[in-house]
Amino acid sequence: MINAENLTKRFGKVDALKGLNLHVKKGSIHGLIGPNGAGKSTTIKILSTLVHANSGDVTINDIPLKRGISVRSMIGVVPETPRLHETKSARSELMFHAKLYGMPRKEAKTLVSDVIYAVQLEDAADRPTRGYSTGMKKRVALALALLHKPEILLLDEPMSGLDPVMRKQFKDIILDLKEMGKTVLVSDHDLHTVEELCDSVTIIQDGVTVVEDTIESLRHQTGSVAIELKVIDDSAMGGLGSKLSSLDCVTDVSQKRGWVIVKVRNPETDLPVVIRMASDHTGILEAKQTMITLEDIFLKFAGGKRG
Ligand SMILES: Nc1ncnc2c1ncn2[C@@H]1O[C@H](COP(=O)(O)OP(=O)(O)OP(=O)(O)O)[C@@H](O)[C@H]1O
Ligand SMILES: [Mg+2]
Repeated sequence: MINAENLTKRFGKVDALKGLNLHVKKGSIHGLIGPNGAGKSTTIKILSTLVHANSGDVTINDIPLKRGISVRSMIGVVPETPRLHETKSARSELMFHAKLYGMPRKEAKTLVSDVIYAVQLEDAADRPTRGYSTGMKKRVALALALLHKPEILLLDEPMSGLDPVMRKQFKDIILDLKEMGKTVLVSDHDLHTVEELCDSVTIIQDGVTVVEDTIESLRHQTGSVAIELKVIDDSAMGGLGSKLSSLDCVTDVSQKRGWVIVKVRNPETDLPVVIRMASDHTGILEAKQTMITLEDIFLKFAGGKRG
C-alpha cells in the first residue's frame, strides 16, 4: 500500500533522510519508531506531500506520490504539532475543512457529527478549542484527519502528552480504524503502545532504515522469551554467560545489575535446556522468565538509543 524506496531529504546542511525504505501493507497498523531526530516526522511529511524528498520513490496504492492530488485524497494526516484556529470550536473547525473539501453543507454537517462521535468529543465540540486540554486537541486533529474518509492514516505521535486513560481510548480508536479496513502508519516513542497496536514496524536511525518486519518475525530473530538469572556476585557472572552463549538455542546473553539475561526463541524446547545448564552452576540466587518486548528488539537493532 505504501512503498517508499531510498528516500533522501536534506534541510540546509542537515541530512534528515539518507536512503530510507518503508513498506506498509494494506489494512495493517505499521509503527515508525526511532530516536529523536531519526527522521520520522520528515518521512511522514514526505508521505503527506507536505515536504518534497530530494530523491527516492514513493507509491501509495501503486500511484506515484508525484501525482499529488490523487494521492492526497487517500490520506488523512495527524501532524506532529497540529494547528487549530483557537477561537473556533471543534465543530466549526471541522465544518471549515469540510467546506474546503467541497462537501455540500448538509452532508458536511452529518460527517462532522460522525467524526466528532468517532473521536469521542461530543461534550466539548461546541466550545472554542483554546480551552481544550492536550488530549482534546489531539482528538480534534484526529477528527480532521478522518473527515474525508481516507483509506490511509499517517499519525505522527498522535498520543504524545496523553494520560494513560486517554492513550488507551486513542489506541482503541486506532484499532477500530483497522477494523474498518484502513491502513495506519503511526509514530510513537512509547514502545509498549506501539507493540500493542502494530502488526509491523520500521525502525529508523540517523535517516536510514535499520530494520522493518512484523513484530512476530522480529521477535523470532531476537528471541521470544528471556530467562533472567540473579547471580551471587560478578565473579559468577562471566563464566555462566559464556557457557550459556555456547548453547545453540540461545539467541543472546547479556548482563544487567547482577542478572544474566538469556534469550531464546522457543520457550517449550529451549527454556529447559537453559535451566538445566544454569542449575549445574553454583551462585544462582533466583530465576524468572520474561517476555521479549519491542523495547528489547528496538535496543538490539537501534544500538541502545531510546525511541
Ligand atoms: N525544517 C527543518 N529544517 C532544518 N532541519 C530539519 C527540519 N525538519 C527536520 N530537520 C532535521 O532533520 C532531522 C530529522 O528530524 P525529524 O523531525 O524528522 O525527526 P523525528 O524522528 O521526527 O524526531 P522526534 O522524535 O524528535 O520527533 C533532525 O536532525 C532535524 O533537526
Ligand atoms: Mg518527530
